[in-house]
Amino acid sequence: MITVNNGVFHLQNEENSYLFRIMDGYPEHLHFGGRVESGDAEALAPIPGCGWGGSTLYDERSNACCLDIFPLEWSGSGRGDYRESPVELSVEGEPVTTDFRFSGWEILKEPPASELPISRGQEILALRLLDREAGLRLTLCYGVLPTVFTRRAILENLSGKPVVVRKFMSACTELSGRFALHTFSGGWIAEMQHNVTPVSMARICLESTTGASSNRANPGFLLASPDATEAAGSVYGFNLLYSGSHYLSVQRSLQGITRVLQGISPANLEWALAPGESLETPEAVMSYSGGGFGGLSQRFHTYVNRNLISPRWQGRPRPVVYNSWEGCTFDFTEARLLSLGKTAARLGCELFVLDDGWFGTRSSDTSGLGDYNVNLKKLPHGLKGLGQKLEAMGLGFGLWFEPESVSPDSDLYRAHPDWVLRDGLGRTDLLGRHQLLLDLTNPAVRDYIVQSVGAILDSAPISYVKWDMNRHSCALGGRQHAYILGLYDILHRIFDSRPEILLESCSSGGNRFDCGMLYFSPQIWCSDDTDPAERLRIQTSLSYLYPPSTFGAHVSASPHAQTLRSTPLSTRGNVSFFGCLGYELDLHELLRVEQAEVQAQIAFYKAHRRTLQYGRFSRGETDGGGILWQAQTEEETVAGVFHGLQPAAPGYERLTVSGLDSQKRYRMESRPQLLRVGDFGSLLRHVLPVKLNPHGFAISAADSRYKMYDGAQALTASGGAFAQGIPLAPRFSGTAYDPQSRTQSDFGSNVYTIKEVSPDEKH
Ligand code: DGJ
Repeated sequence: MITVNNGVFHLQNEENSYLFRIMDGYPEHLHFGGRVESGDAEALAPIPGCGWGGSTLYDERSNACCLDIFPLEWSGSGRGDYRESPVELSVEGEPVTTDFRFSGWEILKEPPASELPISRGQEILALRLLDREAGLRLTLCYGVLPTVFTRRAILENLSGKPVVVRKFMSACTELSGRFALHTFSGGWIAEMQHNVTPVSMARICLESTTGASSNRANPGFLLASPDATEAAGSVYGFNLLYSGSHYLSVQRSLQGITRVLQGISPANLEWALAPGESLETPEAVMSYSGGGFGGLSQRFHTYVNRNLISPRWQGRPRPVVYNSWEGCTFDFTEARLLSLGKTAARLGCELFVLDDGWFGTRSSDTSGLGDYNVNLKKLPHGLKGLGQKLEAMGLGFGLWFEPESVSPDSDLYRAHPDWVLRDGLGRTDLLGRHQLLLDLTNPAVRDYIVQSVGAILDSAPISYVKWDMNRHSCALGGRQHAYILGLYDILHRIFDSRPEILLESCSSGGNRFDCGMLYFSPQIWCSDDTDPAERLRIQTSLSYLYPPSTFGAHVSASPHAQTLRSTPLSTRGNVSFFGCLGYELDLHELLRVEQAEVQAQIAFYKAHRRTLQYGRFSRGETDGGGILWQAQTEEETVAGVFHGLQPAAPGYERLTVSGLDSQKRYRMESRPQLLRVGDFGSLLRHVLPVKLNPHGFAISAADSRYKMYDGAQALTASGGAFAQGIPLAPRFSGTAYDPQSRTQSDFGSNVYTIKEVSPDEKH
């Protein structure tokens, strides 16, 4: 809800308020946080008293008439506010000052039209500011959604002169309090490293300059009170609906105001704004919770699931996927794919994704990108033939593309060498993964991609697209921004008219995991690192900002291709359950018992899919050093307990389940999971009457066929007892095998379901 009373602007949603007013023509920020009333404005306003010495004043009447000491909704440069400015402009080659003052407001039913993704279903307050002397109009758009507020800015050049925009942020947000900044940075296969930096008077910047939102600096971040926990304390969350180079800065002032700037990276930005033209920023989203990190992330999850994802995919179950990449890479024939498809279907997969290598001369990553004509040597019956056969097996058909790139060794590049992105000098770009980026600012290039991808999509029964992007941009500043606008244009043109296609975006894993891409693609491939120990960290970090329904999470082979770490199949499944489950390995390399375990995993996942994809997700830990993930709906809770290195003789461990009704009774059951005979190695000699070689035929045959169970546990208790902590089955401590113990080595884990039972039900 938006109200404007006595010059006080009040945005309210389910649990937050955002308040500001106009002070001498400047928008003065009053409050962003828990709910307050408009009438609280005066009480919440800062009291500058006689101001501070050394000030530059916008009015000589008082030392307090100084923009530097107020929390502001926006600020220019050169008017006494020496903090970092959200806008920098130049006219005729000279930097100019700006002085935006209030000129009016409007409540809009629809957000102003945009080339950028805009959150769905918001009520908008448009605050108009004018720099009369410069002839510039600034509109600050504030959006209200149930769990977040949004902000973006639009600059119009009303002057007769061209203006060059060198910096233009989406939002300037001012907060009171002491904070730690939580950011998520990394690199390929090492995405989303959670860094915590105390906020001080030294400015902290986090920026991506690669042309993508990048794995180096996710645009989402949190500002939390230093003592915030999962369940308590003040936490602010911010994100940006943008997939290109972005910028964040945080700095505390002498007065204790923390200024937060978010927007497009100003690095090398030069955006010419001719008279009459305007420039809009990407939309920023922000939310607050007094209920700790869990409260904040829940608000972001609700936002993404209800106001960002395409309405067509909101709340819709995501299919269990089999993806060909890690099992086959470029080495496949139709027969091999169909045989994998047959096994995938038998085990319960719902969709078969043919990854890279199906077109042109693409039999390695050195050639063929750009030529989307089917390789009939590999696929003699074309995509249609393959898709129909997969459909006959009961599988949907998904296809990989990397439309933004071109291989120099491709027909497309030979025909159009001028279509690649170059810098202002026309310098040839360096190669990244042996490829170049196409210039999406060129309408002919966009038309080619729309036409060539569209034709393939219409040629076969394709219900899913994996849209990959594996290199960085060489373009700078404004060209990078125009590239992203070109990308959004292409995505609209290809997918708006094909809404039944589920789009998964990917960029060497999580190199473009952002709200801009989520607007188009309901799910994103989190990382090329599918080692479950790494995925625990990556998915935990992602979960602060994004819901599990957006995580492409696949089970792959062990030892793992990127870490060479061996992990149990049960843990690989248990980690992938908390996302959009898929399998990405050669299923025929699995032992017979492992295939049966995969089948059981998929059956379990399907039975609890709604909870795992859309339930209320929270993070925690056990008193036994385990990582705890919990997903909860009205009907049930699914909890996962994950361990790292197995200690000798581990102690007791309890599972604490939050969110249950303390008066009701619940049945907890562990998911029966596989324990392999071979895992016992030479220990088997001690328990068997005959002495068998642990690497010999008899043990291998038993390993392949004989199933042992791990960690079976079932009990009934009240919600109150679950909140206190329920003892879990003991962990292996070198004594004996017992199906009721958790007989696990390193990286062991279990998953539990907790469901309400009637009070008189006895177990
Ligand atoms: C990078 C992606 O992250 C992988 O999943 C796979 O699709 C390869 N590209 C294919 O080239």
